[in-house]
Amino acid sequence: MRVAIFASGSGTNLQAIIDSGIKTIDIVVVFSNKADAYAIERAKKHNIPVEVIDHKSFQDREDFDKAVIDRLEPYKIDLIVLAGYMRILSPIFIQAYKNKIINIHPALLPSFPGVNSGRQALEYGVKYTGVTVHFVDEGVDTGPIILQEVVKIEDSDNEESLLEKIHNIEHEIYPKAIELVSSGEVEIVGRRVLNKS
Ligand code: GRF
Repeated sequence: MRVAIFASGSGTNLQAIIDSGIKTIDIVVVFSNKADAYAIERAKKHNIPVEVIDHKSFQDREDFDKAVIDRLEPYKIDLIVLAGYMRILSPIFIQAYKNKIINIHPALLPSFPGVNSGRQALEYGVKYTGVTVHFVDEGVDTGPIILQEVVKIEDSDNEESLLEKIHNIEHEIYPKAIELVSSGEVEIVGRRVLNKS
C-alpha cells in the first residue's frame, strides 16, 4: 500500500514505523502542517518526500483540507497514517479518504479523547490507561478501534513518566496495526474491526 504519514511534532511514531520496515507498505510521503516539525527531518534522513502546508495561511479548515487533498493527489495514497497530526480533519477530507485514515491515541478510547489524555487519566485517578489505534471518522477519536494496549498507572507516576510508558507502547502497536490494515487482514463491521481469518 502507498502510505502517507501525517505529523505535526517530533515524529517518534513516524520513526518507529520507518524502523519497523513493514513489508506491506511504501511510505511515499510525509505531510506536515508545520515547517519546523522534527518529523520532517526524520523523513528527509530516510529520503522520504516531504510536503508542508501551513494551516495558518488558510481562513477555514475546509480550504486547508482541500489544499492538502490536492497536494496529495499525485501520490495516489491508499492509507493515511496520522502520527501526532495536531489538526482535526474536516468531513470533506474524511470523505475523500473514507476508511483509509488511521490514528493513534494515547488513552484507552472511549476514555479520555481529545488532548492531554495522560493528564486527564492522572486527574481522573484511573489505575490503567493505554493506547488505541483506530480508523478515523467524522468525530474526534471516535472511529472503529483496530488495536488497544493497556498501560498500568503506578502511584509514583507523573505526567512525564506516564507519557514515556505510553510512547513506548505506541511504538510497538502502531506498526502492528498498520501491518494488519495494509495486509488486508481486517474488515470494518459496524463499529467493530474484525480479523478476516
Ligand atoms: C503520540 O502520543 C500520539 O498518540 C498522539 O500524538 C503523539 C505524537 O508523538 N496522537 P510523536 O510525534 O510521534 O512523538
